[in-house]
Amino acid sequence: MGKFCATISIQQKEFGLSAHSLEGKTALVTGGGRGIGKAIAYRLAEAGANVVIASRKLENLESTAHEFRDLPGKTAPFACHVGRKSDLEGLVTYTEKLFGPVDILVNNSATNIGQGLALEVSDEAILKTLEINVLAAHRLIKLTVPKMIERKNGSVINVASIAGLRPQPHGLVYSFTKAGLIMMTRVWAIEFGPSNVRVNAICPGLIETEFSSFFWQDEKHMAALRTSQPIPRTGKPEEIGGIALFLAGPESTFVTGQTFVIDGGATAK
Ligand SMILES: NC(=O)c1ccc[n+]([C@@H]2O[C@H](COP(=O)([O-])OP(=O)(O)OC[C@H]3O[C@@H](n4cnc5c(N)ncnc54)[C@H](OP(=O)(O)O)[C@@H]3O)[C@@H](O)[C@H]2O)c1
Repeated sequence: MGKFCATISIQQKEFGLSAHSLEGKTALVTGGGRGIGKAIAYRLAEAGANVVIASRKLENLESTAHEFRDLPGKTAPFACHVGRKSDLEGLVTYTEKLFGPVDILVNNSATNIGQGLALEVSDEAILKTLEINVLAAHRLIKLTVPKMIERKNGSVINVASIAGLRPQPHGLVYSFTKAGLIMMTRVWAIEFGPSNVRVNAICPGLIETEFSSFFWQDEKHMAALRTSQPIPRTGKPEEIGGIALFLAGPESTFVTGQTFVIDGGATAK
């Protein structure tokens, strides 16, 4: 074995991971039953991690877990409203009992209920969006990261949005909560880095899911996208899964506090 391979093998041993595998790792993916969260959960389970997928609709989660049944890692559903603290506590307790302490946390669930003119946004919409898009990630971090710190290993992946990097028209609340998540990612990364717990954010552009149907079903919006975006189409959830796998696994052990933009070049200009 050459010096280069030997170094990689030492690093992998040090971080407790094999070359292309998350075997033996426990992952928790909120919103893992459909869309981007499902694509991320798939890549993690395919790499051998045991994954708990969590969201409100149990039926949907169960059908995804069934679909993933032949992957190397196990997939288990858990019904949970991420805006409720007690649900999140139940989720982490369940995950730890089933698969052991969380090694990979993916904060992916979100809402965009506050869409509309800024002057018309209600206090209620702001508070609810904050609870789901920001506070849930903070609460899950508090419930899982102390055990990652004890084990000196862990990866947290926050699914933000390009709306958190540049303003989205009529998207005051969604944009500022995603901007908040990006900045929290950097603060968490600074605090947890010395314990080898990494925190990164992914910012998708327009990806074809239920969440964004308002945009990709709008022909005017799509016509504008086709003339302004270097890759002139919407993305697919599967095009986000790979970066999450990279951030979860042994290829990214020196990466933290970063924001990865996957947007067909929308923000390149
Ligand atoms: N699609 C895009 O163009 C795009 C662009 C940038 C960023 N993103 C981000 O990508 C992430 C995933 O969105 P997506 O596009 O994959 O949308 P999606 O297919 O609609 O998925 C959203 C997921 O969030 C879950 N969820 C919503 N509210 C929840 C709550 N209160 N508690 C628990 N789970 C909840 C949903 O499950 P239940 O309904 O079962 O609860 C669903 O699994 C979000 O953070 C979104 O902001 C998406």
